[in-house]
Amino acid sequence: MKKITIAIDGFSSTGKSTLAKQLAKELEYIYVDTGAMYRAVTLYAMENGMVTEKGIDKEALIAALDDIELKFVFNPNVGFAEMYLNGKNVEKQIRSLEVSRNVSPISEVREVRSKLVALQQEMGKEKGIVMDGRDIGTVVFPDAELKVFMTASPEKRAVRRYKELLDRGEDVNYEDILENVQKRDYIDSHREVSPLTKAKDAIEFDNSDLGLVQQFERIYEHALRIINN
Ligand code: DC
Repeated sequence: MKKITIAIDGFSSTGKSTLAKQLAKELEYIYVDTGAMYRAVTLYAMENGMVTEKGIDKEALIAALDDIELKFVFNPNVGFAEMYLNGKNVEKQIRSLEVSRNVSPISEVREVRSKLVALQQEMGKEKGIVMDGRDIGTVVFPDAELKVFMTASPEKRAVRRYKELLDRGEDVNYEDILENVQKRDYIDSHREVSPLTKAKDAIEFDNSDLGLVQQFERIYEHALRIINN
């Protein structure tokens, strides 16, 4: 069967990763969460004193980029690949609100993006991949056969994120999360390098009111049509 590249982009907490994981499972494709890679670099910067109240130490981060090794390792117990930073499983830490607060300025750094985009292109060179992020259909794989752009209202997304963090036992409040969602939307779509934009040939999905099953079925059918063509 023909293998394709599936690019899923959109704002934070629009259900990109849920959809991408399901598609990858059903098609037996590799799934790559590129947000996890930006989050892991952010964690590295936080752990190494490069994030202070005054902002990020961009020069130190750029100088340290070669020391940051990122790897996805499949965990059969959860059914997806987890993020490893310099050999350590950081899957839980990278999802904290603290990392979410610092990730946008880190992902604005041109050199960080170049490193991660090159890694992502390497992972997808054999196709048979579902990748989610902000610039997959525009920068990483502009030739992807299927591009999906997901949106949902900031309030709906903040509720989803709030529930996720609560389930993980974090002490969070809804207003903080809504503020973080809105701030990240702004930075992600206004940054100079690879801002979040919908690729011209992407299918747009507003899933504010669409159930997850419905959403998956529509996009899966679409993928099968392309694969069988
Ligand atoms: O998808 P996420 O919320 O886990 O992503 C975390 C941050 O990483 C997000 O605020 C923007 C950044 N990001 C990016 O700039 N480019 C990507 N391809 C993926 C994520």
